[in-house]
Amino acid sequence: MKTHHERISILGLGAMGRALAGALLDSGREVTVWNRIAGKADELVARGAREASSVAGAIGAGDLAVVCLLDDASVRETLAPALRELAGGTLVNLTSGSARQARELAGWLGGHGVRFLAGGIMAVPPTVGTDGAFILYSGARDLFDRLAPVLAPIGRSHWVGEDPGFAALYDMAALSGMYGMGAGADHAVALVHAEGGDVETFRREVLQPWMEQMLPITVAGADGRETVPDEFNPAMQATGLENILSASGEAGVPTDLAGHLNASLWRMRRAVAAR
Ligand SMILES: NC(=O)c1ccc[n+]([C@@H]2O[C@H](COP(=O)([O-])OP(=O)(O)OC[C@H]3O[C@@H](n4cnc5c(N)ncnc54)[C@H](OP(=O)(O)O)[C@@H]3O)[C@@H](O)[C@H]2O)c1
Repeated sequence: MKTHHERISILGLGAMGRALAGALLDSGREVTVWNRIAGKADELVARGAREASSVAGAIGAGDLAVVCLLDDASVRETLAPALRELAGGTLVNLTSGSARQARELAGWLGGHGVRFLAGGIMAVPPTVGTDGAFILYSGARDLFDRLAPVLAPIGRSHWVGEDPGFAALYDMAALSGMYGMGAGADHAVALVHAEGGDVETFRREVLQPWMEQMLPITVAGADGRETVPDEFNPAMQATGLENILSASGEAGVPTDLAGHLNASLWRMRRAVAAR
């Protein structure tokens, strides 16, 4: 039995758009899909989706349009010819971008009578619809309250503020943390590999448990300012970072892979100099 009667149109059937549409279909939502290049909707159509042949047609078929395209430029390009159909309607943008782009998009669509919620997907296609997935939303609270149950099948809905830029802001910041973690892991494995260590054993028995142990401390201690609290002992940390960089040099690991270490070392040295 359907508990939410909102008909949802998904614009964009890349890896993420297909995952979003699939999760909504699985939950019994009525879904219409559109993609710029044809041929990406077949599997979704077999699962019950309708395919629209134009953006305007897709928007007309739904009560709610959800956009998940490559970037802000592709969103603008796609929506511009369909502003008449969008007027008076509701749109959620789950395309990644910057806070400024989200604010400008909110202004542009608002000026054309569109109720708009900005989003940031904290999931990858295989985790969409799973317990771990969550989606950041920003914009009018009343709109979020109405749409959160409708979009619940794609992931836990999490509102981060009235400012439409905040979902993108938190999304980009969280991704920066993730890529920093990835850069650290890449560098660690490169070091072990270069010195003839057993990479698989290192990954499983050292890197993973170590990163798991340190993750809460790292996140809690992240400050972002140039100040480093005394308890972090920046002089000791600077020496530790210099050791890792020397070990990298000895192993012949390219310094390009160690940018995160240089950034931390710069911060620790500034903190020591400020004492
Ligand atoms: N994949 C992930 O792990 C992940 C995670 C979180 C957030 N996201 C975000 O989700 C969004 C979509 O990612 P994705 O993985 O689905 O990317 P993707 O597989 O590369 O798909 C890109 C989509 O954008 C469309 N597109 C590109 N340029 C266009 C244009 N000028 N006009 C109309 N459509 C255009 C493509 O259409 P065509 O098929 O016609 O080229 C396709 O539907 C991105 O903003 C991404 O950052 C992705």
